Amino acid sequence: MNVNRAVLTLDEFTLQQLRQFPTATGELSRLLRDLALAAKRVNVEVNKAGLVDILGDDGSINVQGEDVKKLDVFANNQFVGVLKHGISCAGIGSEELDDFVVFDDEISNNSKYVVHFDPLDGSGNIDVNVSIGTIFGVYRRVSELGKPCTREDFLQPGNKQVAAGYVIYGSSTMFVYATRRGVNGFTLDPSIGEFSLSHPDIKCPPTGKFYSVNHGNFFQYNEGVRKYIDGCQRKTKENGGPYTQRYIGSMVADVHRNLIKGGIFMYPGTTDKPNGKLRLLYEANPFAFILEVAGGCATDGTQRILDIQPESLHQRTPLFIGSKEMMDELKEVSGLK
Ligand code: AHG
Ligand code: MN
Ligand code: MN
Repeated sequence: MNVNRAVLTLDEFTLQQLRQFPTATGELSRLLRDLALAAKRVNVEVNKAGLVDILGDDGSINVQGEDVKKLDVFANNQFVGVLKHGISCAGIGSEELDDFVVFDDEISNNSKYVVHFDPLDGSGNIDVNVSIGTIFGVYRRVSELGKPCTREDFLQPGNKQVAAGYVIYGSSTMFVYATRRGVNGFTLDPSIGEFSLSHPDIKCPPTGKFYSVNHGNFFQYNEGVRKYIDGCQRKTKENGGPYTQRYIGSMVADVHRNLIKGGIFMYPGTTDKPNGKLRLLYEANPFAFILEVAGGCATDGTQRILDIQPESLHQRTPLFIGSKEMMDELKEVSGLK
């Protein structure tokens, strides 16, 4: 087998970035390495998802004698574990945990980042072998170093993220992350167990053919949104169409496709749930950051996602995100901002 030695691994890439900043401490590189390690562990379990019932002893104990846990709890434990044992993270917020977790030990109190994550996104798709993912956003804490991090560190608007990313457990496993300097994608090379740079400097095409929305909720969307979706269905060759509707139900997979190929993803508010379903801190904000760095944009319909001042860990927000020109058209047709 030919191995292309010119291809950088994730660690090599982050170190190369670090070398350009002689004053940088390397904490972010370490944090990304920790997250990638957890992602590799989750990947192994995700690949065995269909075997869980076979390997488990009466559904509760697996062959190693550990409890058979739901995959999202397993994933949560992996991400909490690497961040708690690492030396870059002072605390976390997770979809799976009721409240923020302050690590509060000597090393963690001297760490400069806090991280929000959705350990397993699209978990309803696990049972049917459809792509799922992990989403994370990294913030520099605002509280004093040397002390436990505080609520204020966790409730910063998305525009304060220093990095954000996602892992997609799909036909291959990818780790994609953004800093203000760019978005880069790494594919897991199973032969060496490393994420290798496969998608350097990702840019979101300014327009595309994909629109992703849950059509089942159509009559619960407001008039402007319905008008836009109706327009998507009427697109022809003459005005940039025809469009293709694609909705997997794993936001990571849907937004990943639209980021690479060009498209728009929407989870609007509904009459039942005016704030929609998606969570601001660990679903909307990381993707809004990634898409903006890649040239796209994201709104809740009234303001830029990244400018929303969060009030609580699990707060929800409507989300419209994607290619710049498609987002402009959405705003024009629907009256959203
Ligand atoms: P999670 O599995 O973390 O709860 O999130 C699933 C989310 C998101 O990934 C997806 O886009 C959306 O839920 C799908 O919701 P609907 O089934 O309501 O369309
Ligand atoms: Mn989710
Ligand atoms: Mn989840």
